[in-house]
Amino acid sequence: MKILIIGSGGREHALGWKIKQSRKVEKLFFAPGNAGTSALGENIDINVSDFEKIKEATIDQEIDMLLVGPEVPLVDGIVDFFANDEACKNLPVIGPVKAGALLEGSKDFAKAFMARYNIPTARYKTFTTGQTDEARQFLNTLEAPYVLKADGLAAGKGVLIINDFDEAISELNEMLNGKFGDASSKVVIEEFLSGVELSVFVLTDGKNYKILPEAKDYKRIGEGDTGLNTGGMGAITPVPFADKTFMKKIDEKVIKPTIDGLNSEGINYKGFIFLGLINVKGEPYVIEYNVRMGDPETEAVMLRIKSDFVDLLEGVANNNLNEKVLEFDERSAASVMLVSGGYPGAYEKGKVITGADKVADSIVFHAGTRFKNGNVVTSGGRVIAVSSYGASMKEALQTSYKNAEKIQFGGCYFRRDLGFDL
Ligand code: AMP
Ligand code: GLY
Repeated sequence: MKILIIGSGGREHALGWKIKQSRKVEKLFFAPGNAGTSALGENIDINVSDFEKIKEATIDQEIDMLLVGPEVPLVDGIVDFFANDEACKNLPVIGPVKAGALLEGSKDFAKAFMARYNIPTARYKTFTTGQTDEARQFLNTLEAPYVLKADGLAAGKGVLIINDFDEAISELNEMLNGKFGDASSKVVIEEFLSGVELSVFVLTDGKNYKILPEAKDYKRIGEGDTGLNTGGMGAITPVPFADKTFMKKIDEKVIKPTIDGLNSEGINYKGFIFLGLINVKGEPYVIEYNVRMGDPETEAVMLRIKSDFVDLLEGVANNNLNEKVLEFDERSAASVMLVSGGYPGAYEKGKVITGADKVADSIVFHAGTRFKNGNVVTSGGRVIAVSSYGASMKEALQTSYKNAEKIQFGGCYFRRDLGFDL
């Protein structure tokens, strides 16, 4: 098979790494990929939102399966684009249709969906311009801190957690007045939930599903979970508190009703569902849905899947995922993200990266990297994820840290305290 993976991050490199191990794969392509993915297959320089160009590439390269990494093309309807195209309608595309991608593309849709199917989540209301008085009334029924969410995609920046009541009102007005563009023309206000978060990943063919290894990511830039939110500074799997009982609750209270809900709404959802969950006194609540794999969770989760991943993806495409086997690796896995100095604020690009060749016992996944004058250089905030196995989380992290030290580029930073809270 020839498989084309859409995206350019550590997630796509890790998906490619796992997929490449399948006997079924003849050749891999990435669009656009990064310096790391070019070692696994061929990078094609196409923007993830250029559906026409992606279509041309699938025809020119005789692609047998398309796997969509990031949310933006999914929310923009890449799956529907292929399904409605005479020439490409039979190409298996792994990812949900646009109506399903709304679970991530609209927080208001996701909250109303959870309400319809009694899926545990924070109490909420949605507001639009001119509803400040109603919002004030609703905020009065909540306790600080207040959680404000832009309805649409805002590159991970659309959630504000605010302690002060008046500040919450003024932020609400700023959001409704375009702080996040169209994405915040509607704002969800919800109850703050307190607990430890985890990420749970589901692969579904629309009817059948498999739960992939769960993970925990570290979102804040600073040690001890301090400072600004990032795309993710590292991840570990398994998550110690996610024992059988807790995972069973997640399955029964969240996953089953989600799949059933999608079905009863006639949404043909094929692909990944990433549940951002929080453990509130032993009960799982949904913080958010994403319609893709997590990054950097994928850079740890892929290490723990023993089964042929392409076989599973074929199960998604052919509606027989129930006949496929998903076996976990019993070891722990950890991923440590090396980021550019200054990230998640302003940072410089184009720094030469050295030392990756000295890494032993870890897997180096590229995120923001590209080639320049024969060197691999930084091209993003998150640069490289160093992933390792270990008999325990601690051991996996130690191996990643040991190897992270060997990789160098100007301004390189990584957190050294992952797992501190477990
Ligand atoms: P999101 O962009 O939806 O992932 O939200 C970003 C982060 O905000 C989450 O990972 C949580 O840490 C936090 N968050 C979102 N909603 C809530 C909530 N209702 N209660 C507590 N924390 C929240
Ligand atoms: N690691 C969180 C995300 O991918 O959104």
